[in-house]
Amino acid sequence: MAAADAASHMAESAAPARFAHIIGWGMAVPERAMSNDELSAFVDTNDEWIYARSGIRQRFIANESESTATLAYKAAQQALEVADILPTDLDLIVVATSTPENIFPSTASLVQDWLNAHDAGAFDLSAACSGFVYALNTAADSIRAGSIQAALVIGAETMSRILDWQDRSTCILFGDGAGAVVLQASESPGGVMSSVLRSDGAGGDLLAIPSVGSIDAEESRAGANGYKLYKMYMAGGEVFRFATRVVSESIEQACGLAGITVADIDLVVPHQANLRILQAAARKLGIDVKKFMSNVEEYGNTSAASIPIALCEAIEQRRIQDQDHIALVGFGGGLTWASMVIRWGIPKPSEQHSSMLNRQRRHVLYRIAKWRSRSRRLRRRVNKRVKGFA
Ligand code: UT7
Repeated sequence: MAAADAASHMAESAAPARFAHIIGWGMAVPERAMSNDELSAFVDTNDEWIYARSGIRQRFIANESESTATLAYKAAQQALEVADILPTDLDLIVVATSTPENIFPSTASLVQDWLNAHDAGAFDLSAACSGFVYALNTAADSIRAGSIQAALVIGAETMSRILDWQDRSTCILFGDGAGAVVLQASESPGGVMSSVLRSDGAGGDLLAIPSVGSIDAEESRAGANGYKLYKMYMAGGEVFRFATRVVSESIEQACGLAGITVADIDLVVPHQANLRILQAAARKLGIDVKKFMSNVEEYGNTSAASIPIALCEAIEQRRIQDQDHIALVGFGGGLTWASMVIRWGIPKPSEQHSSMLNRQRRHVLYRIAKWRSRSRRLRRRVNKRVKGFA
């Protein structure tokens, strides 16, 4: 081994182990809740059917001034507040979403701008209802590899904008919302311990939102295959069977990779699609369904936002204790599915952190974010004019 290689090898082996811990969390839902009874005023359905088949009683629906990015921004601000770090401490922002503001620029870039997180990279991630676990895994890997220190991971959706409100088999299931976590590097063991990410593209036609560039676009316009451009289509029964299979399988795989057994899991925080899926998965795993966090009754299926929203509520309800093993599991369009095991434990904040001071700093940074954004646009325009005259 050359001397330089040997030195770098020694430096590497001397480097302390890095772990990726969740140190902050937040969630946001639109102001307006819509009950099953309200839905049945314009779709041929009823509260009894919806609740019995899915466990849903209501969902939140965005108004004109609410969007995927505004909900993501609110959830992100809360997560930074809990983490007590500044937006300028962030190295990466990932937004998992199937309902982005634009194809590009990404929703993550909008959030980055509004937060004034000027040292962060930002991108959206598309893995449907598995997106949050995919995004968390991506950020955790970057932290553990040493390339970043802190990341903001968001799941955010306005499903109401892509629902076919005449299709009773889908429009009754979904809702809008956002959840966010801050992940930070730490030397204290724990945090994200294992992940299993999977895809079966052959099932892509079971759950889809045909969009720009779709090879199905022409048929979509013609309404073949039941597809409508920019509207969600789902073969519910088949997706249900797929979901009950992969939830239990992938949790078992993630536990194996983390070196624990399913019995060691203290709480499962699953994607909230249907209470019956969670009951079936609990049966298959042989664990008490009470170990499955469920809030589908109140929020419906918020796709990539459902896991971080459920995680926030589980923490608030004190269902997660220090050193608990948590399993996250997502499943949905792609088809995709993903499981993750986390050992909960929030490293103590460093001495120099002063909550009051940080809170004020965050508010100043948010306030000047708009001004900073405007002044950068103005400078670009002036530069263009000046160059035009030269
Ligand atoms: O987040 C991505 C992952 N998504 C999922 O995991 C969703 C998975 N799928 C499901 O949750 C369930 O399949 C649904 C909740 C979507 C549907 O439940 P189901 O038990 O599979 O019902 P079904 O589609 O087999 O429909 C049963 C009956 C049908 O009537 P017939 O043919 O038996 O006379 C439907 O026409 O219920 C009827 N139906 C409804 N009735 C009242 C379907 N939708 C409705 C409705 N209200 N909204």
